[in-house]
Amino acid sequence: MATSGDLVDFARGLPKAELHLHIEGTLEPELMFELARRNGVPLPYASVDDVRRAYIFSDLQSFLDIYYAGCRVLLKEQDFYDLTWAYLTRAVSQGVRHAEIFFDPQTHTDRGVPFESVVTGIRRALHDGEARFRITSGLIMCFLRHLSADAATRTLHEALPFKKWILAVGLDSSEVGHPPAKFEDVYNRAREAGFLAVAHAGEEGPPAYVWEALDILKARRIDHGVRCVEDDRLVGRLVEEQIPLTVCPLSNVKLRVFPNLRAHNLKQLLDRGLLVTVNSDDPAYFGGYVADNFRDTAAALGLGREQLLTLARNSFVASFVSEEQRRAYLGDVERFAAQPSLKTIS
Ligand code: ADE
Ligand code: ZN
Repeated sequence: MATSGDLVDFARGLPKAELHLHIEGTLEPELMFELARRNGVPLPYASVDDVRRAYIFSDLQSFLDIYYAGCRVLLKEQDFYDLTWAYLTRAVSQGVRHAEIFFDPQTHTDRGVPFESVVTGIRRALHDGEARFRITSGLIMCFLRHLSADAATRTLHEALPFKKWILAVGLDSSEVGHPPAKFEDVYNRAREAGFLAVAHAGEEGPPAYVWEALDILKARRIDHGVRCVEDDRLVGRLVEEQIPLTVCPLSNVKLRVFPNLRAHNLKQLLDRGLLVTVNSDDPAYFGGYVADNFRDTAAALGLGREQLLTLARNSFVASFVSEEQRRAYLGDVERFAAQPSLKTIS
């Protein structure tokens, strides 16, 4: 049996890709205060501890209200740089070798922040991160599903001059009541323009939303997707086509999709042959980065060494890297697994 120290080291050291990470969800309270001071933005909190005490959520919407409010301190290109740089420095210590990162431009452009400031600040940090830490990355631009399809189309137009920096489009924010079909037209245009497609579905929403994300939006990955187990035919399709699910266990507990980690269905998803990955979603709000998700989930569900290695391999298989890069990263996982000092994990 592994000691908890062994499990911490194993979860951290395991080379992995992070595929479900909202850059705005990495805004730690300390940086929130610093940016608020720098930009003269008032905060409704007296201290960093006060902020953390406010992070108790009853569902997705109760989180989103606080998350969008926190974003108000992000105004300048340098703010987006600092936010992304802070994430990358943490990601290195969590064993992240490759990150495909969501950003929500409408959260910023609707406050008058130019699209260019957002994307340039994030991109500059990702570029520096690759040079300094050798973390490769891609950007996924999300449409906010509680806003209109026309607003999403306007955002797509704003993104076109920056297309070389943006890998894919995604869909996030309040799920229930905003089915993927609402965004059929903008996804068609985005795919025609050469963007890949992913979408959040089956987090709080029903399996029907996962079907729509696949059939209407042609999503290549489903973000969350944990409610797929309510529909056996859907599970069959996801297994057959090996469509990845980017699952976020600590997020699911914080947002009460599951009452606790022991009740999470991640092990069931793995056992049914789904291509599951483990990710952190909004780590500054949910109490853990990606290796913390690996560690806590393994401890709660009794996942062993082989299952953790499968999750690490899956993260590269599910990523949008080139085949050559994928082989190299999968080789890193095998070399890590072969280290004699790490054999003690059961
Ligand atoms: N935006 C940030 N985190 C999200 C989540 N877990 N679901 C939907 N939209 C989000
Ligand atoms: Zn998410």
